[in-house]
Amino acid sequence: MKNVFVMDHPLIQHKLTLIRDKHTGSKEFREAVKELAMLMGYEATRNLPLEEIEIETPLCKTKTKVLAGRKLGIVPILRAGLGMVDGMLNLIPAAKVGHIGLYRDPETLEPVEYYCKLPADVHERDLIVLDPMLATGGSAKAAIQFIKDKGATSIKFMCLIASPEGIKVISEAHPDVEIYVAAIDERLNDHAYIVPGLGDAGDRLFGTK
Ligand code: PRP
Ligand code: URA
Repeated sequence: MKNVFVMDHPLIQHKLTLIRDKHTGSKEFREAVKELAMLMGYEATRNLPLEEIEIETPLCKTKTKVLAGRKLGIVPILRAGLGMVDGMLNLIPAAKVGHIGLYRDPETLEPVEYYCKLPADVHERDLIVLDPMLATGGSAKAAIQFIKDKGATSIKFMCLIASPEGIKVISEAHPDVEIYVAAIDERLNDHAYIVPGLGDAGDRLFGTK
């Protein structure tokens, strides 16, 4: 699929193994998720536009490049997306941060929205939506639609592990959205958990359950 970018850099794959391991505790899990977000953010921002400016080094004037184009925003899907925010902000400290609160109803598996606060100028920003897990795709599909309804026109989605089903849902519902992912796993189980996956990302990040 042309809009899906699987980031198989060795450092990313190594840290992914750490967070998949059920013996990894919350502290190490949180650290690895943060580092993964930074490594993936580095790749996902590879095509940011540059412009040439003139500066003066201690030796002479020279032409050199700085970031140009639209300002950036990151939008974690609560709760688990929060684990990826600091890693992204390490790379792009000036980015504004919006939040969308969604949880999957355990019975219907449908996303339920409980919070949304986005930067006022969301329509002028390039946005990267963050969530470690793309399972049925229901949460990400709803979150992206929500952001579009608020006026956003430039959106990427970054997750750590996706299911093939989730990728299909987002690609079909939002063909304009590029998906950055560290691994596409085999399948969903009967409870819509990704297999082999890493379990419940929110619980593992925050030590609940
Ligand atoms: C998890 C995960 C995604 C969602 C993915 O959140 O962080 O948001 O499930 O599943 P889907 O693709 O089938 O919608 P969860 O609903 O467990 O909420 P939490 O982050 O508050 O734990
Ligand atoms: N949400 C998670 O946290 N993990 C999964 O495997 C699926 C949805």
